[in-house]
Amino acid sequence: MDQVRYGIIGYGKIGSQHVGKIMDGQVPNLRLTAIADTDPARLAAAREKLGDSVRYFDTAEALIGSGETEAVHICTPHYLHPPLAIRALENGLHTLVEKPAGVYTRQVREMNAVAARHPELKFAMDFNQRTDPAYIKARELVRGGAVGEIVHTHWLITNWYRSQSYYDQGGWRATWKGEGGGVLLNQNPHNLDMWQWIVGMPSRVRSQVYYGRHRRIEVEDDVIAMAEYPNGAIGTYITTVIDAPGTNRLEIDGTRGRLVVENGKLHLDALEMDEHEFNRTWTKGLGKPKMTGSDIPVEGVYTAHVGIMTNFCDAILHGTPLLAGGEEGINGLQISNAIHLSDWTGGGWVDLPVDEELFCRLLAEKCGGSLPQ
Ligand SMILES: NC(=O)c1ccc[n+]([C@@H]2O[C@H](COP(=O)([O-])OP(=O)(O)OC[C@H]3O[C@@H](n4cnc5c(N)ncnc54)[C@H](O)[C@@H]3O)[C@@H](O)[C@H]2O)c1
Repeated sequence: MDQVRYGIIGYGKIGSQHVGKIMDGQVPNLRLTAIADTDPARLAAAREKLGDSVRYFDTAEALIGSGETEAVHICTPHYLHPPLAIRALENGLHTLVEKPAGVYTRQVREMNAVAARHPELKFAMDFNQRTDPAYIKARELVRGGAVGEIVHTHWLITNWYRSQSYYDQGGWRATWKGEGGGVLLNQNPHNLDMWQWIVGMPSRVRSQVYYGRHRRIEVEDDVIAMAEYPNGAIGTYITTVIDAPGTNRLEIDGTRGRLVVENGKLHLDALEMDEHEFNRTWTKGLGKPKMTGSDIPVEGVYTAHVGIMTNFCDAILHGTPLLAGGEEGINGLQISNAIHLSDWTGGGWVDLPVDEELFCRLLAEKCGGSLPQ
């Protein structure tokens, strides 16, 4: 079988998980040839596991310039995603980036511009939830008109529970300098991507964001946001790290009915008559459109990171379309940055795309004066 010579940059929690799956033979269309990490202890851990089967580099740049790989998977903390991706792309390497695409849209836009100058290279995001059959089906239904024109979208995503002891592990997590945010930047990039992937991008956003309200952290742990879409539809988005067990419920209401995605299950309530038509023709006072409810079968398997890595390598080897193109990483981040910016500027509406210079200036203030490099 053809294999892509593959390098992992950042052998931390997620990088080592990917390596474990690769070594288990779960991604047969790639051959792990190199690992880079700036932390000698992490490199030693990799060497202990993999021995001489791969080459080791103490900087990402050394791996990128080594000629040992055709593709890299960037698994470092968020701020480093765009600069390392740019470096890899400019060195002729196919590049898969962990979520989030970056911390602020300006750096992600720069990354996307470099990728656009290299159409011969595959550039992808590790949005593993795009392999979840429930969301794939939801997107197909919504885009196929099953709920008609979207009127409301609500995502209650409160099952990202994190205890104080999780945050007390320290490191780059839950700091402005380390990751540029909290639950929005660390846990929610998946959901924000999925939200826009299924219902499209909002035109403006407003929010109320709470920082260190329930945990001793400087970044946000509780978020309530509202979105408005180009067609006038309204969305709400609520996330937190403190609810246990929490809820993960996406509801999309349209003129033809309602779709709910919850716990991997889909339920569609289809109206017999378009609500606009019902409202125009109904003359008997109290009453509402008749509907038929049904659970929608979800077929397929959630392949997560294995699915994304396999797809990325299939794209390189055979031209298979990417499940999550790299340039799409900016969309969820636009919403995330807009949620922050609204709160930082008094909670009013923030138009998308966000004012990047203002966002960067306010984020830099939180980082102590300048943005981390
Ligand atoms: N797609 C997902 O579901 C998913 C899941 C977990 C983490 N992530 C993302 O992966 C990234 C890493 O998260 P993690 O939990 O593995 O963090 P981590 O801190 O456990 O690992 C990061 C590793 O990168 C190394 N590193 C830092 N700077 C480097 C550099 N310049 N060059 C090479 N290596 C460097 C660190 O030494 C560390 O070993 C984050 O952006 C996170 O959001 C994605």
